Amino acid sequence: MVGDPGRGAPELGPVLGIETSCDETAAAVIAEGRRVLSSIVASQVDLHARFGGVVPEIAGRAHVELLVPAVEEAVERSGVSVEELGGVAVTVGPGLVGSLLVGAATAKALAVAWGKPFVGVNHLEGHLYAAILDEEEIEMPMVTLLVSGGHTMLVEVEELGTYRILGQTLDDAAGEAFDKVARFLGLGYPGGPAIEKAARDGDPHAFAFPRPLEKEGLDFSFSGLKTAVIRQVRQDPALKVADVAASFQQAVVDVLVTKALRAAREIGARTLCLGGGVAANGPLRQRALDEGARAGLRVLLPSKMNCTDNAAMIAACGWWMLARGRESSLSLGVDPNMALVAVASLGEGGYR
Ligand code: KG4
Ligand code: ZN
Repeated sequence: MVGDPGRGAPELGPVLGIETSCDETAAAVIAEGRRVLSSIVASQVDLHARFGGVVPEIAGRAHVELLVPAVEEAVERSGVSVEELGGVAVTVGPGLVGSLLVGAATAKALAVAWGKPFVGVNHLEGHLYAAILDEEEIEMPMVTLLVSGGHTMLVEVEELGTYRILGQTLDDAAGEAFDKVARFLGLGYPGGPAIEKAARDGDPHAFAFPRPLEKEGLDFSFSGLKTAVIRQVRQDPALKVADVAASFQQAVVDVLVTKALRAAREIGARTLCLGGGVAANGPLRQRALDEGARAGLRVLLPSKMNCTDNAAMIAACGWWMLARGRESSLSLGVDPNMALVAVASLGEGGYR
């Protein structure tokens, strides 16, 4: 069972979701908590690529330009009229403060103008909802490996809305390690796809990079691995970049899959799900599928578009919050450091 939306939920109309926490300007419309009617993502990658990373000031300004057209397109493509919408959901944290403010202010203005309920969504909780997009049945409990540019965590989802963090990174996030190693190797930004591409021509066993904390517990550490890669390249500048990329990727995938399976075993999970930008990584997806199946788990791999930042997951999360009566106040602020536990500890009232 996916979860019980509670009384009155079937009448809740489709929800418009808005996501501007980092460098993707996104808007989407979701019906019945999981059916994607439209999902628009306007990427700012080209704007930031020459700086080798996201420039907060540029991101905020770009959201101002791109968001209203993205919302218009999402509503138009959904085939739903504004009158039919059940509410407006927006990411309120964690993320870049200037970027979050653009989305939050726009969502509130639309909710007021259209006379619709407004709901603030935690970006991390949104990533967990990517699992249910266009899925009918999910067997709980589920373990989600959430691996993005800012976060790496294993989350137990007992049912939608009830989470427990089983482990997380003690230093760098997995995506951050991909981005930093890619930058060091001169592969460009964003680093994850660049490393995956370079690794295709490389030998994943060329270098035995460390697998930090692989043998113990459910926490992660990637900073030592990144340093080991940099040290190796400094020692031998002539080595093949493809081999370094492939060996680094293999080490990250080994650690992520080993820990995800350990978590699933420990809580007796029936489903394993991947989420966050790093979950778009081909070798990670394949390994999770193969090893998950061998362990008797159903492995859910959201489409690559639903793994990286998007508004469909925010709209889905917002739909379920509204369905449970967790509407937000219009005085709700944004929180750049919002944690997932803050969501789990919320009562029925939702964010205030
Ligand atoms: O979830 P996301 O789009 O944004 C955040 O909330 O952080 O994740 C972005 C991260 C970046 O670090 C990017 O390098 C990584 O996801 N990423 C990948 C791949 N595609 C994106 N990492 C490895 N392989 C990929 N194919
Ligand atoms: Zn994200």
